[in-house]
Amino acid sequence: MNQSKTKYNFKFRWLPMKELRSNESRSNPFPIFKMLRENSPIRWDEERGTWDVFRYKDIYNILQQPMLFNSLPSPAFGDGTTVVTMNPPQHKKYRDLLNKLFTPREMRKLEGRIRDIVVDLIHETKDKDEIDIVKDLAEPLPLYVIADILGIPVEKRKTLKELSMTAFGSSESATEEDLAQFRIVFAEALGQLRIILEEAIEEKRRNPQNDLISKLIDAEIDGKRMPEEHLIGNCLLLLAAGNETTTNLISSGVRVLIEQPNIEEQLRNDSSLIPKHVEETLRYYSPVKTIFRKVTEDMEFNGHHFKKGDPINTWLMSANLDEEIYEDAHLFKLDRKFTKHPHMAFGNGIHFCLGAPLARLEAQIVFKVLLDMFPKIEMIPETEWQTVASEISFGLKTLRLRNF
Ligand code: HEM
Repeated sequence: MNQSKTKYNFKFRWLPMKELRSNESRSNPFPIFKMLRENSPIRWDEERGTWDVFRYKDIYNILQQPMLFNSLPSPAFGDGTTVVTMNPPQHKKYRDLLNKLFTPREMRKLEGRIRDIVVDLIHETKDKDEIDIVKDLAEPLPLYVIADILGIPVEKRKTLKELSMTAFGSSESATEEDLAQFRIVFAEALGQLRIILEEAIEEKRRNPQNDLISKLIDAEIDGKRMPEEHLIGNCLLLLAAGNETTTNLISSGVRVLIEQPNIEEQLRNDSSLIPKHVEETLRYYSPVKTIFRKVTEDMEFNGHHFKKGDPINTWLMSANLDEEIYEDAHLFKLDRKFTKHPHMAFGNGIHFCLGAPLARLEAQIVFKVLLDMFPKIEMIPETEWQTVASEISFGLKTLRLRNF
């Protein structure tokens, strides 16, 4: 039986687990997750001071019990000021409010606007022989869309993109010195983002518009307006949560088309398969490898003794590749069904991604437009894609395609 011995600390949030310390392992974590699912599906890592959980069923059980497994405070969002760090019962009040603003129906209203942004971004590259699918499209798109939804002026969005990428881009820190440097840059960018949001909030208090910030200013929780700190916190969360994640989804979806040209062909023959392509990409190349929880009381969990306060890494990417759940889990299948076992790319349970309908819509529009505008998805010969060198995030940093 495993016993946790070290005191709760945050080391596990920046020190990668030993199996994922090299760039190579982070770019190709699949055999590692397979080995861990088989040999140590639940383990206590003394060095990082955390549990690691690798199998779908265990992760599902953890995420379905938010009272036993609370969210962890986050370096960016502190403790309990945003939905992602809130626990029941407060979480539900905020989540119900946000849910109304993020329904698939609300998102569909944005379809034309998102399409325009995608086409504009592609047009911006028209004089070049190549388009970097990450830098030119997948990075700016989600930020421009969320800035639009929040109601932040168009002229601020480039600055917002730079700051968000600095503040919320995944850390590639591998040493304490790296981390110290990262913390300074992170705090500076976060501070500037807060100023932009505070200005926007002030402006919208005077002059409300039909945008998300105005709606959140107006919204009531328990008959009262949201405290300013929660308003800013949740706006920051919306800015942060959907960027690198959606960028990763788009870059990985294009990567699949390069790796498996028969998928491209199928999508060209039948564009109604695009949503399936997006879902299977989410499973196969999960944009978020892991999310964190904290044990709230001593308990036995599948033969292990979890102690109150122990942190847990639930490895979503590994859950999504679990052979016990998905037949031929190592294969990319457009006809895979998720009715019985939803993939976990967006998490599971009460914190299931608020922005899932938006991320899906953005990715689907991107693939539709790309297939319409590009007669062939073709990499620039003799170039290589670069993967994001983070333990948490999975996607590409650059992927250069021939521009038509
Ligand atoms: C929560 C992934 C896009 C907003 C989550 C969680 C995951 C996730 C795994 C669960 C976190 C946890 O349980 O601790 C993704 C992926 C995305 C994506 C893979 C893109 C492919 C977005 C977008 C937005 C967004 C576009 C907003 C505009 C949120 C919010 C939460 C969340 C607010 C917290 C929900 C809660 O705690 O109730 N996301 N996300 N996400 N996501 Fe996303």
